Amino acid sequence: MTSQAKPTDPSGEQTLPPIETLFNPNSLDYANNPGPQCIALAERGPLVWYGPWMCWIMTRMPDIMDCWKREYLSSDFYDWEFAPPRPTEENWNNFEKALVGHSLLADPDHHRLIRKITSPAFSRNVVDNINRRIEPDIAKLFAGLEGETEFDYIEQVAKHLPFISITRMVGIPDRYWPQIKQTVLTFTETWNPTISEERRAKAQEDSNRAIDILFEVIADRRANPGDEDDFLSALLKVEAENPEFDEWDIVTLILALIGAGADTTLVAQQWAAYAFLKFPDQIEPALASPEAFSNAFSEVMRWAGNSKMGFARYAPDDMELLGQQVKKGQMVLMMPHLKDHDPQFFADPDKLDVKRHFDPDVLFGYGPRYCIGAALAKHQLYLSMRELFTRFPNAELVEEPERDLEDHNSITFKSLRVRTGHTGTR
Ligand code: HEM
Repeated sequence: MTSQAKPTDPSGEQTLPPIETLFNPNSLDYANNPGPQCIALAERGPLVWYGPWMCWIMTRMPDIMDCWKREYLSSDFYDWEFAPPRPTEENWNNFEKALVGHSLLADPDHHRLIRKITSPAFSRNVVDNINRRIEPDIAKLFAGLEGETEFDYIEQVAKHLPFISITRMVGIPDRYWPQIKQTVLTFTETWNPTISEERRAKAQEDSNRAIDILFEVIADRRANPGDEDDFLSALLKVEAENPEFDEWDIVTLILALIGAGADTTLVAQQWAAYAFLKFPDQIEPALASPEAFSNAFSEVMRWAGNSKMGFARYAPDDMELLGQQVKKGQMVLMMPHLKDHDPQFFADPDKLDVKRHFDPDVLFGYGPRYCIGAALAKHQLYLSMRELFTRFPNAELVEEPERDLEDHNSITFKSLRVRTGHTGTR
């Protein structure tokens, strides 16, 4: 958040204690036990002004579902009141050309068209092929740990997986990996409204370089189509069959996959490993089948309650929303996770129960912007948990991991040390 922003309270609720004394996602208290703060925020009403971030927070599920479904708020970062000015077309750099000019985010009609015409690229067949391609990489990663007595799950496993999955999903050959790696690590910072302009600019530079590389990868694939069955081949086919879909749309989509698939995977990996190490009786029912695991995934993320920010939208005009006067350009954060430790919604909320029933299950969003990578994310986590607990059936936590307060979006760990149960002889 910009430092010059002065907290005011357009909702006029000055008589209540300031909301930041009840809800502060950057505090250690929140990192250790977010549930009570989330409940306190939701009790304030359906749309709460949050001064420290100069934004509204939408707290209740029916309203969030409706907003997801009808898309009456904008997803375009440049509609935010504190965004830098929208760059004009003649000054666009590569990053802006990909994300302003052909944005998946900016224009709901364009977004729906792109999702529709690219749907064959997400067909069961393509996704199954991609899933098969990541299996050997994941097995190799864990094979490298055989014989270790202890390791850090984050450094030695979790940090590698988003990159492996996304590059395999897209079909970026291994030789380009070193050059593109930095972008995968910092891409979500390119439009994060809560960090400094300098940090956003640095992340954009990384992305500009990555876009040049993506063009090389695409040219390579056009010259040597081979029999690849990845996302890039599927998108090149879509491009050949649809005049309204061009090379920049392909680049934009790949960047969207990097942006949406990297941090989410890293966070899910560490919380899943932590949750199962703490509650080993839940491992077997979770891994019973990919379908059982899909439910277990939602339960692990509910139990973790690791979200700090939720999903950003921006008011396209002055409007009355849920009893409040919202001004054009103000940010509205949808926070579906506020209910996750509320006993009104989940009985015995602090218990991890992988058979818990979710209705609706919104881990991957809802409506027109439902997660493109849901199937990949589930399969990748399933494979890695299966590898972890098959190779190391006696794995246990070395110590309670320390929370890392640096992450802008989620509660994460500084490290996650695992004792393998091996004696150390290879
Ligand atoms: C733990 C893993 C993941 C979770 C929990 C997750 C969750 C979500 C959610 C909630 C949304 C909707 C966001 C909104 O409404 O603003 C979303 C969108 C999206 N996700 Fe995921 N995701 C995960 C992994 C992935 C992966 C691995 C990829 C791709 C490789 C991916 C690609 C996308 C894309 C491209 C969108 C935007 C879709 C659109 O706007 O049409 N996600 N995800």
